[in-house]
Amino acid sequence: MRRRQIYEGKAKIIYEGPEPGTVVQYFKDDATAFNNQKKGTITGKGVLNNRISEYLMTRLESIGIPTHFVRRLNMREQLVREVEIVPIEVVVRNIAAGTLVKRLGLEEGARLPRSIVEYYYKNDELGDPLVSEEHITAFGWANTQDLDEMLQYALRINDFLCGLFLGVGLKLVDFKLEFGRLWEDEEMRIVLADEISPDSCRIWDVATDKKLDKDRFRRDLGEVEEAYQEVARRLGVLPEA
Ligand code: C5P
Repeated sequence: MRRRQIYEGKAKIIYEGPEPGTVVQYFKDDATAFNNQKKGTITGKGVLNNRISEYLMTRLESIGIPTHFVRRLNMREQLVREVEIVPIEVVVRNIAAGTLVKRLGLEEGARLPRSIVEYYYKNDELGDPLVSEEHITAFGWANTQDLDEMLQYALRINDFLCGLFLGVGLKLVDFKLEFGRLWEDEEMRIVLADEISPDSCRIWDVATDKKLDKDRFRRDLGEVEEAYQEVARRLGVLPEA
């Protein structure tokens, strides 16, 4: 069946869903980094991220985090609720890595004094700048109540996912979340949206600190496909070959 495409992003395509209020999220193998300056393909990534995100969103639903996820449709597609994406990327960090290391001159791998939450304004032209709560509420990207809800969800998600990953020998270094607004009976709810996968998380092996995420692509470390497969395998969601 040919469906109308609503939006094409860097790693996913959103199609019209079979029922009103739903959309289909299609996971591509395309990978980009450094705000689109580096482009490539990670063979099989879409299939793995579809499974990994399905698994993590389902587990989060089971502890009471509302998400947009409805069900997986096939190898590369999942049905999700249609939401209006809040234009803020919420990043939670447990261990120093990535832009935090660069910005503050920290040592990569250092455990942070406590988990740190950051907000970035979703805007490709500006390269998703770091913003504060003041910017977010002053410019009306989210109000204080929505922002507080996103923060509370982000902290609970972090606690739960840290434990889940640790249980399979993985460290959750940092990750990015996106939230959406959903209207039901005239009421607006904030729900977790987009995806949670090795594209949006930094995940290291507990024993060796081997990077098992998109940093292997960003930094040309090799064994990129294998890293995504390893995360799926540890979580018990590796699709049959
Ligand atoms: O690059 P940075 O260190 O700020 O990234 C923090 C975390 O957020 C990483 O896990 C990265 O994969 C994720 N991220 C993302 N999408 C972005 C920016 C960061 O998934 N646009």
